[in-house]
Amino acid sequence: MITYKQLVFCLLVFVSTIGPAYVHGDDSLEWVQKDNRRFLHVVYRVGDLNRTIKFYTECFGMQLLRKRENPQKKYSKATLGFGPEETYFVVKLIQKHGVNKIDIGTGFGHLGIATQNIYEMVELIRSKGGVITTEPGTLEGGGTTIFAFVQDPDGYSFELVQSGPTPDPLSQMMLRVIDLDRATNFYEKALGMKLLHKFDNPQEKYTVSIMGYGELFQSTYLELQYNYGVTEYTKGNGYIQVAISTDDVYKSAEAVKLVTKELGGNLILPPGPIPGIKTKVTSFVDPDGWKAVLVDNEDFLKGLQKKE
Ligand code: CO
Repeated sequence: MITYKQLVFCLLVFVSTIGPAYVHGDDSLEWVQKDNRRFLHVVYRVGDLNRTIKFYTECFGMQLLRKRENPQKKYSKATLGFGPEETYFVVKLIQKHGVNKIDIGTGFGHLGIATQNIYEMVELIRSKGGVITTEPGTLEGGGTTIFAFVQDPDGYSFELVQSGPTPDPLSQMMLRVIDLDRATNFYEKALGMKLLHKFDNPQEKYTVSIMGYGELFQSTYLELQYNYGVTEYTKGNGYIQVAISTDDVYKSAEAVKLVTKELGGNLILPPGPIPGIKTKVTSFVDPDGWKAVLVDNEDFLKGLQKKE
């Protein structure tokens, strides 16, 4: 039997050690919801950099923002988007020299482009030898939005969506997940995204959570898609990561760590400056194994000035 005094002592020890950890943890989770975040870029590998640059600029109307060769490390890199990286969501393409074939895997979904003339864009893509996987049309059984699916030269899928003028045409990215509630929860709690819309498509057997940092169609959003009954996807070697901005990588990492304990996933790079570059980052994988990196806002902008 323990005495009353011993019990009080145990309680005091508990409150003074575990208690603050909880309060502190809650702090970082609350802070995440108020952090200054947006989608910065998505990084993936391509088999022929010049071929992809040509396709994205000619067919999608993207601008080549930067291109860099690294003969020592045997890779080439290019950044493309619909406007400057300071405000736009952009793609960063990497070609490893000697690797011409990319295995995209089954898990990566697509990127999405909003266009004011979907029919024109589809015809242009067809004329340049691009593959149209879904001709422009509306969703069967409802919906007024006209969309199409096309493939880039490596087979990456792009959803084209007919739309009015948007701040950034590179408007969406889709990843497949095996537990939608878990993934939705993770991106809300650990990343501070809002669930903007959720819909079920029983005909096509999938459910989608649309997550983002701003109003739907006014800023880039992430689609998390659950396909009925699918419990496994392959990652391939194409998709690398998505980058999201933050005002504090240390607090961000704290929040990610807390949420991974509950929902899965893993912090893979502790917060701090990248050696030689000095930009503070932290990176992690989500419960489905998708990698993301959080980048310090100020360092990111400073880094861009250096690259000019
Ligand atoms: Co989509």
